[in-house]
Amino acid sequence: MGKYIILLGPPGAGKGTQAQIIAKEFGLAHVSSGDLFRENLKNQTELGKLAQGYMNRGELVPDDVTIAMVKERISRPDCAQGVLLDGFPRTPAQADALEKVLAELGGKVSCVPYISVAPDVLIERLSGRWTCPACGNVYHEKYNPPKSAGKCDKDGSELIQREDDKPATVERRIRVYMEQTAPLIQYYQDRNLLVEVDGTQSIESVSQQMLAAIRKG
Ligand code: AP5
Repeated sequence: MGKYIILLGPPGAGKGTQAQIIAKEFGLAHVSSGDLFRENLKNQTELGKLAQGYMNRGELVPDDVTIAMVKERISRPDCAQGVLLDGFPRTPAQADALEKVLAELGGKVSCVPYISVAPDVLIERLSGRWTCPACGNVYHEKYNPPKSAGKCDKDGSELIQREDDKPATVERRIRVYMEQTAPLIQYYQDRNLLVEVDGTQSIESVSQQMLAAIRKG
């Protein structure tokens, strides 16, 4: 049976950063709903065109299309050993749907690390974030700079800033998180799956605590 882990936390908490480390450590497929939408956008699919407006406004893409997209992704063969979910679920309806999909696949969620970070820190993190468009590696101009300015350490690609990291959109994303996603903290607490990690520590300290929690879970 596969291992299913959900990374919970506000925009900019460090989900993508930690996901790269954790997925590698446990040999899990890293499934990020945001990355799936961005891939669809790049390929100009119908789904990408639909998602674009919501993403640019900092709002959530409707549950039905998001659930269908993630369901299809986690049913693929590379997810058989388990999945690290990053950015999904983001609403109680998505969490209920996930529970059903995993039951069909013969699995269940084993641990939900929740990375907590205060809003003022999130804004600073997102405004200094640079991403590799080729491999998805994430950097920060101050906290996690690439070895060579503007270039990805892994493949040398030119780093880019995300369209939705503009200050007004970041604020909207944080508000949407508080209203629609934060209820999942209680949802997973009620299921004894939540492990809170202080996301304001160094990237390495956060990783160590998350890895320890997942090993126990
Ligand atoms: P998505 O791509 O999921 O974005 P997000 O949740 O807002 O999260 P981010 O990717 O912005 O942040 P992160 O937590 O991964 O932080 P990171 O590691 O990069 O979603 C984008 C949009 O897609 C949504 O707004 C929505 O429209 C749509 N969408 C996606 N999923 C959906 C769903 N399920 N339902 C509906 N709509 C959905 O780190 C941030 C920065 O901080 C980086 O620069 C990093 O280097 C730095 N950093 C990380 N850790 C540390 C640390 N410990 N100390 C100092 N700096 C750090």
